[in-house]
Amino acid sequence: MVHVDLRKIGETRIAILRIDNPPVNSIGSQVRVAVGESLAAALADDAVQAIVLTGTGKFFCSGADIREFNTPKTLIRPLLRELISMVETAHKPIVAAINGTALGGGLELTLGCHGRVASEDAKLGLPEVKLGVLPGAGGTQRLPRIVGIQAALDIIVGGEPLSASQALECGLVDDVAADPIDSACQLAVAIVRGDRASRVIDPAPLGDAASEAVFDDARRAAQRRYRGCIAPQECIACVEKTLHADLETGLAFEAERFKLLVEGDQSKAQRHIFFAERKAAKLPAAAQASTVRSVGVVGAGTMGGGIAMSFANAGIPVVLLEQSEEALQRGLNNIQRNYDVSRKRGRFSQEEVEMRLALIRRTMDYADLSDVDLVIEAAFEDMQVKKDIFTRLDQTCKKDAVLATNTSRLDINEIASVTGRPGQMLGTHFFSPANVMRLLEVVKGARTDDAVIATVFRLAQRIGKIPVLVGVCDGFVGNRMVSHYTREAYFLLEEGCTPAQVDGALRRFGMAMGPLQMQDMAGLDISWAARKRQAPTRPAHLRYSKVADRICEMGRYGQKTGAGFYRYEAGSREPIPDPEIDKLIAQCAAEAGIVRREISDDEIVARTIYALVNEAARIVKDGIAQRPSDIDVVYVAGYGFPMFRGGPMFYADTVGLPKVLETIRRFHAEHGEYWEPAPLLVELAESGGRFSER
Ligand code: 3HC
Repeated sequence: MVHVDLRKIGETRIAILRIDNPPVNSIGSQVRVAVGESLAAALADDAVQAIVLTGTGKFFCSGADIREFNTPKTLIRPLLRELISMVETAHKPIVAAINGTALGGGLELTLGCHGRVASEDAKLGLPEVKLGVLPGAGGTQRLPRIVGIQAALDIIVGGEPLSASQALECGLVDDVAADPIDSACQLAVAIVRGDRASRVIDPAPLGDAASEAVFDDARRAAQRRYRGCIAPQECIACVEKTLHADLETGLAFEAERFKLLVEGDQSKAQRHIFFAERKAAKLPAAAQASTVRSVGVVGAGTMGGGIAMSFANAGIPVVLLEQSEEALQRGLNNIQRNYDVSRKRGRFSQEEVEMRLALIRRTMDYADLSDVDLVIEAAFEDMQVKKDIFTRLDQTCKKDAVLATNTSRLDINEIASVTGRPGQMLGTHFFSPANVMRLLEVVKGARTDDAVIATVFRLAQRIGKIPVLVGVCDGFVGNRMVSHYTREAYFLLEEGCTPAQVDGALRRFGMAMGPLQMQDMAGLDISWAARKRQAPTRPAHLRYSKVADRICEMGRYGQKTGAGFYRYEAGSREPIPDPEIDKLIAQCAAEAGIVRREISDDEIVARTIYALVNEAARIVKDGIAQRPSDIDVVYVAGYGFPMFRGGPMFYADTVGLPKVLETIRRFHAEHGEYWEPAPLLVELAESGGRFSER
């Protein structure tokens, strides 16, 4: 776990301690013990005058072992903060040679060192906030004393890693070098000889170097960015402590706040999502992925344009096909506009925008798709339209090209039936805006080859998406569930709520936006078309709310027509409650013989979120999702479900499945058939199981 080498420079002998704990050099209990023992030995060895601490491969150390959190292993001594204190107070210089990624506890370990050198490709950060905790091994106290309050707040509350050059610029490291071990040894020698000062952290408070306003601003910004999350506010409180407390007091305060967070539901939920995302991205079969060098996109509408941008952003050439010059130009104008916004926000330089635009080649000729490795169809959501496109693609594209549809609901097997290559056909369901949203539902058809799935999974990761494997059914995972969620939202309107009340309750629960505002954003005509398609098979005895249909009949399709469940001022996305809609809802309720009543936030949340949970349990049982945690990833990454609740399945586990089942049984008795409890939920609730254990 720790390899020790000795190096002699001049008269100075240096012990190089290399942490070796694949795959990412996390620092769990065993590593702490091993580092502690090696350090103690090197410090006691009179033949050693200095120590260099480094890691193996691409990782210096990726932080504490998250799997050990909330287990007795975290109590095994030395604790990480004890180890760092041992480094900090050592009587011999200890220099960190940051050979690659140094995150969380890994970076905190270097903050106790007397010097830091980073490799050119090193990444340095404190991402704990993303796991619902704070840097709990001194990071909130030492970092501000090294880089200043504002930079420390940016690093700790932002959670994004710095590059080596950024770390050098803000004074986090002393040097950036191609060979960080060599450079760290030179620095250690210089400290031993007294040619360079040892970096020691000032234990005194920082005083009022930063005004209180900095912290107020940080708190407000964190409230907006991480609505409902506790950890960012705790991070800020800990950094603020440096103003008034010495290092020791600050460290004790930090340790106490860390404990509170790590034992809380929010962090457990966020850690669940961390591992769930990684599990979702793993493929069951050892299938061989091929490399995709170029991509075709059919359709330059909102989705097609966003998909093309996702590839161009990753440096992958795209051929974008439309039927008419006008549609093509409209699509490209949208892409250009989106890039301009990113440039103005400082995300890309003009040069980077131009590089991306140059990767998107326009065409109206299918022959231009003959050579691409993969084509994604993002045309109008109509089976016949799709069949025509795939017939042409099958005739035009090279034999081994993968053909994918971005349909959000249609039967992929039926689309594949018009091609002579159903093994190379699958669904790639992007989420809007496709260049931003990280989720990709990869839909496996009945005959899709495992190798094709593997190819698309690898491609998804290259373009920064989280792929989740799903099966064929109406709406796959996400939209199949959302139908149940919006159904309950519509029923709640009829039973007594206003749109703002339903959306408000769910926003307070933590959803990025409420279901009705989401419908207005997505376009009401889309779900209207789906409902019309389903109408012939919908059992007549089942309750059906006409509210959304009637809104569509008024020509109100949501934001794009300036009105839907809400009104929108020209150029604004701010939903404004509309008395006309309140009247329409009351009218629909009266026609359906529903007596309107007062409805609480709790009921709104239970009706909509448990509708998601119940359907999700069916989806898992049907094998449409591989595991419950995949559903959590779909909902957090694609539907704005609050990360700090860990997704619908984890949330149900947190509430307790027996309690969820009891409520669903009550809804079943009150509202009928839609609420028939899912067999998997009953099975787990009655056997003391949890979704997250499956
Ligand atoms: N603890 C335990 N396991 C970890 C881990 C950690 N800190 N970091 C990564 N892993 C595991 C992953 O779960 C995955 O396991 P699997 O193969 O069984 O699925 C494996 O390591 C590889 O991880 P990735 O697939 O994510 O590998 P990448 O190369 O894509 O990314 C990484 C590497 C950038 C290090 C990324 O894994 C990461 O961001 N890890 C989390 C880093 C982090 O949050 N550190 C702070 C921890 S909290 C802390 O230090 C508290 C302290 O303040 C007291």
